[in-house]
Amino acid sequence: MTTKARLRDTFALVTGASTGIGAATAERLAASGAHLALVARSADKLDDLAARLTRDHGVTVRTFPLDLAAAAAPTRLVKELADAGVEVEVLVNNAGVSDGGPVLDGDPARFRSMIDLNVTALTELTALLVPAMVARGHGAVVNVASTGGYLPAPYLAVYAATKAYVLSFTQALWAEIRDTGVRVVAVSPGPTETPMNPRGSRSADAVAATVLRALSGTSPAVIDGRANALVAFLFGRLLPRRLGLSIARRVMASGKF
Ligand SMILES: NC(=O)c1ccc[n+]([C@@H]2O[C@H](COP(=O)([O-])OP(=O)(O)OC[C@H]3O[C@@H](n4cnc5c(N)ncnc54)[C@H](OP(=O)(O)O)[C@@H]3O)[C@@H](O)[C@H]2O)c1
Repeated sequence: MTTKARLRDTFALVTGASTGIGAATAERLAASGAHLALVARSADKLDDLAARLTRDHGVTVRTFPLDLAAAAAPTRLVKELADAGVEVEVLVNNAGVSDGGPVLDGDPARFRSMIDLNVTALTELTALLVPAMVARGHGAVVNVASTGGYLPAPYLAVYAATKAYVLSFTQALWAEIRDTGVRVVAVSPGPTETPMNPRGSRSADAVAATVLRALSGTSPAVIDGRANALVAFLFGRLLPRRLGLSIARRVMASGKF
């Protein structure tokens, strides 16, 4: 299990670190003494954040501006990390995009690029970086899912399906390597106020605090916030699926999420 002590002076890789939950998580990791490798497409935002975290926390921050949805981007990133001498102790697969609306009105190319980022890049980075952690006998992976992954979401169908994948994949990996010393956990935020969701009710920093707590826990899946945990339990486990889907359809059609 990775503890706060193990974060100190090791490198944490955070994808989607330029804004929102990723930036807040990078800040909390830096406050715990971790050096950082930050990934997103916006080089300027990454550089601003890196300068601030180095100044405020005295940690080393390397930036890797990259479109993770591009073919072979995870492989390229891992090579760049190796060339920079960065050994990843903690991987936070946070980068994600959300695109809503009826499936029949959707653009298949946008669906593909959402899956490329939310599913493929997350899977490839995990597969590329975890073997070295297992060989060392320590390390951690946090995959950012969503409460939307606990129930199919009408009008957010592809996004919710990508997050159901993240939940399933992460929990299976947790079971596969639970005795290796490497911590694996899916963290699911609910609606969180970020550029992705300006009307979210939780703060990005609250989710980041949950990510840090999840790192030192043992559960394969953690939900941020009690109300979100209740909603996920209600819709994911308690309600009959048809009833849950009918309610979800009405709620999602109202445009409040
Ligand atoms: N906010 C919510 O209500 C909520 C709820 C549940 C789950 N989540 C999940 O939380 C995670 C973070 O979301 P957020 O709310 O913090 O959203 P956000 O502020 O929009 O952050 C998304 C991050 O991903 C990066 N990104 C987007 N496309 C990318 C690409 N092709 N390659 C590399 N980086 C890319 C963005 O940076 P660039 O644009 O600079 O590339 C940004 O840093 C996501 O996985 C999201 O699904 C969010």
